[in-house]
Amino acid sequence: MRAAAAEKLRQRADYTHKHNVKTGRHGWLRLTPAYSVKVVDEIISKAGRPLRIFDPFCGTATTALSAAYHGHEAVTTDINPFLVWLSSAKLNFYGAATIGATRRACLDALELVRTSGVKPCARPALHNIERWWSVESLDFLTKLRPAIQAVTEPQSPEQTLLSIAFCRTLIATSNAAFNHQSMSFKDSEQISLALDIDATQIFSDDTHFVLNGAAENPGGNASVVLGDARNVAAAVHGKFDLVVTSPPYANRMSYIRELRPYMYWLGFLESGRDAGELDWAAIGGTWGVATSRLKDWKPSPKSFASPLLNDALECIARNENKNGRLLANYVEKYFDDMWQHFRSLTAVLAKNAELHYIVGNSTFYGTLLQVEEIYAAMLKQLGFADVECRAMRKRNSKKELFEFDVFARWP
Ligand SMILES: C[S@@+](CC[C@H](N)C(=O)[O-])C[C@H]1O[C@@H](n2cnc3c(N)ncnc32)[C@H](O)[C@@H]1O
Repeated sequence: MRAAAAEKLRQRADYTHKHNVKTGRHGWLRLTPAYSVKVVDEIISKAGRPLRIFDPFCGTATTALSAAYHGHEAVTTDINPFLVWLSSAKLNFYGAATIGATRRACLDALELVRTSGVKPCARPALHNIERWWSVESLDFLTKLRPAIQAVTEPQSPEQTLLSIAFCRTLIATSNAAFNHQSMSFKDSEQISLALDIDATQIFSDDTHFVLNGAAENPGGNASVVLGDARNVAAAVHGKFDLVVTSPPYANRMSYIRELRPYMYWLGFLESGRDAGELDWAAIGGTWGVATSRLKDWKPSPKSFASPLLNDALECIARNENKNGRLLANYVEKYFDDMWQHFRSLTAVLAKNAELHYIVGNSTFYGTLLQVEEIYAAMLKQLGFADVECRAMRKRNSKKELFEFDVFARWP
């Protein structure tokens, strides 16, 4: 009974089970729900000929992976170096020899942990780390990380695959729960159940899961580049026939905050300051220093203006709304960033290129922010044709929140 409860707990703490995708590389670590993976896959599967496909907001590589599975050429960019690393790993080819060597390396690493044959690494500088992991789990993880490095070559495919399994294990052994849109901590009853968890078994299972996905090699050719979507042409070359992407939503969600456990353990972040800087560079997130900087933020001289956006900004900024001015600045910056993105995108579009932006609307103090309509207005102003907002589904129990496929064609 207790073991069954512990297993349930482990599943809940896992992105993959939360979103119910069972196999393949899509399931390794994901930011998008299974529904979005399906939507992206449906759009891409309709292409009647091989295309060059672009995703400016790569995340965990949903578009690039689907494109590659369908035999297209794909290029994708993200501003977050951890996501570029992860996505590149998801898009790589893995042969039988690599998979066999990784399986053996997993056993060797666990043997080093068991026999304390490796010097534990320092705990990452994650704020309040004791809240994330029990002393036992921290002991295991600080040995497992250097053990993986000891049994594999730096930057080898074996080290990459085991590091992805490590990412899954560090979440499965943590007190973090992913039951809501963003991360929270488990309650004390759940934590006591978690003590039953056998970390060695979890890492073996996670390695097995990752290697099953690695054996499914996509056919197309996909690559991922570190780049800022506000200046697309600086990161990618040539023209694209199709853009399929899920941009950051205007919902204040910080991907840096959500991803910080992985990023600290793998060395992509070393301090809260690094985290704040990266969050400020990213579109759509506000966390720590990025929130304080919003107070003094001013729009760029060539910012986008529309009655729909201006009305929404006025309603949000009203005096009676606590933090209204700050949130209005947040929304204005979000659209200023997206405007820069759309303007820079036109340079890399082939004639008749199609765009699909999968995005949700938002509310601020009861003001509905019609993100999809503002995107549509931007695209029309830039000269796109056939611009349409296709409502797809309700996002959650709030009746006004929907997800849209904003479609457009570059003439
Ligand atoms: C909604 S997520 C994308 C989810 C993605 N479809 C997936 O498969 O996981 C948005 C992504 O945009 C990235 N992003 C935010 N600002 C960016 C920028 N200025 N340039 C490029 N990527 C950015 C974030 O790091 C995040 O990965």
